[in-house]
Amino acid sequence: MRKPLIAANWKMHKTTAETRDFITAFVPLVKDVEDVEIVIAPPFTSLAVAAKFLKGTNIKLSAQNLFWEEQGAYTGEVSALMLKDVECEYVIVGHSERRQYFGETDETVNKRIKAAHAAGLKVIMCIGETLEEREAGKTFDVLKTQLEGALKDITAHDMLVIAYEPVWAIGTGKTATPEMAEEAHRFIRDQLAGKFGQDAAETIRILYGGSVKPENVASLMAQENVDGGLVGGASLQPDSFAKIVRFKNS
Ligand code: 13P
Repeated sequence: MRKPLIAANWKMHKTTAETRDFITAFVPLVKDVEDVEIVIAPPFTSLAVAAKFLKGTNIKLSAQNLFWEEQGAYTGEVSALMLKDVECEYVIVGHSERRQYFGETDETVNKRIKAAHAAGLKVIMCIGETLEEREAGKTFDVLKTQLEGALKDITAHDMLVIAYEPVWAIGTGKTATPEMAEEAHRFIRDQLAGKFGQDAAETIRILYGGSVKPENVASLMAQENVDGGLVGGASLQPDSFAKIVRFKNS
């Protein structure tokens, strides 16, 4: 049985005061939720304050990126050890915005995953096709290439979550239909089975991301291979993110 995981990716949103206000309002809305793992990924500057206000709650902390070296002359970068130091349990790696705007490649995603795992951080690794790739019928080829490159020599499948985020669905209000999501997730699970074995692949959570909202989360979560969501815009308000976490009630 895979425990559903619902994660908030705040991207470049929220100051420390806004982070504190969100968490103060959000914690009571979900404090009775036991059967869903809840994760929040604020920007680096809010991690410490988030850790403080999440202490003793059922909500876990994630960062949105990391650099693979342990320390050194890498101006502007943050290491896995620094994320552990502010009590992160997860880190998002390879988000399409990082691939699009900051030159992230499958090779650098792979280095980040190795560094995260070596430090004991769980990874939410993002993959997904662009609209152009989907329309050219290349979705599965793209997913296969991204998985192979990013997961090269990775063995700790119990420290790994995959997020399928079709680029055309991110921040656009266009969601993949539940059937489209299921088709991609099934393909991803088959690829994971090829790499880690069938039993291991059955335990890896595959999240869907791209315009997840309170109104569409239940139909996505009803799919056999959709094990959670990575939520951008709709995770910025406590009530809307709480509704998504409580998808079983909708
Ligand atoms: P939106 O939910 O705003 O479409 O963003 C999805 C996303 O990129 C989560 O990582």
